Amino acid sequence: MMDWTDRHCRFFHRQLTSRALLYTEMVVADAVIHGARERLLGFDAAEHPVALQLGGSEPRALAEAARIAEDFGYDEINLNVGCPSDRVQSGRFGACLMREPELVAECMAAMRNAVSMPVTVKCRIGVDDQDPEKSLRTLIAMCAAAGVTRFAVHARKAWLDGLSPKENRDVPPLDYELVYRVKRERPQLTILVNGGIETLEQAEEHLRHADGVMLGRAAYQNPILLAEVDVRFFDGAPVDLDTAIDVYAEHVERQLHQGARLHPLIKPMLGLYNGRPGARLFRRHLSEYAVRDGAGIAVLREALDFVRVRRAA
Ligand SMILES: Cc1cc2nc3c(=O)[nH]c(=O)nc-3n(C[C@H](O)[C@H](O)[C@H](O)COP(=O)(O)O)c2cc1C
Repeated sequence: MMDWTDRHCRFFHRQLTSRALLYTEMVVADAVIHGARERLLGFDAAEHPVALQLGGSEPRALAEAARIAEDFGYDEINLNVGCPSDRVQSGRFGACLMREPELVAECMAAMRNAVSMPVTVKCRIGVDDQDPEKSLRTLIAMCAAAGVTRFAVHARKAWLDGLSPKENRDVPPLDYELVYRVKRERPQLTILVNGGIETLEQAEEHLRHADGVMLGRAAYQNPILLAEVDVRFFDGAPVDLDTAIDVYAEHVERQLHQGARLHPLIKPMLGLYNGRPGARLFRRHLSEYAVRDGAGIAVLREALDFVRVRRAA
């Protein structure tokens, strides 16, 4: 997710779940090819498994970007066919590609030929006046014919003309049933459902009808739920929250030594203790002090004292 799932956020999330697949922010294929690669693509080995999401609609550029990503060690390439922003539309990628399923399939085929890791699609069910019953099935059919086997479907249309990207995440109604039906029709494909999933109970319900769930906003608004994912869905070990936070605090300290600023590093933690004693003080302390010039690790440790001391009391 743009402005959220940078490498630090992913490192943090990885301390909470060792199994869930994590995704980068969308990175435009041309930026991968011509831009500052280490800054755009660099990640910590601890983040695995991690998917790079690409934006683009030019098969050759996407194939080249996918090759570069493979050299960086990503586990999956995901193509964005869901973002509704004007900037993305003017670049002819994101959700507007729902209208060009042949081109999406061509892009997917080019990337699949370029790399050996899985190449997947994140899409909407349709855009504007499309009939989602047709647009979703057509996109999936064409991509499947190009060899794609995994799809994450944000189960609502995007209105490209008239709604802001923010409205497009809430206003058009969700149609989970359509996603479930497509899964039933194509049992051999792996279909993940996305959109409006806020709790692990809801995730469990979706898993009765789909192969996986993708969490967006819940992962940063309420990251604590990630700490239960391994036990609940992967038969994994329980996560000790204090240990997870200590490991992340060490990461923050290392980054500060390398010249990073504190605020972007603590951003993914802000919602961590929501609803728990001390949460407001934790959040307020970080919001107030982490933005100051020269803010150091002490600011995070002081903020943690509000929640840790209270929990022990
Ligand atoms: C701040 C923000 C940034 C996002 N950036 C991306 C992105 O880069 N790529 C993408 O496929 N979806 C992006 N999305 C959409 C989410 O992946 C997701 O499809 C959408 O928010 C619905 O899921 P949710 O209700 O679980 O949040 C973004 C959403 C938000 C709120």
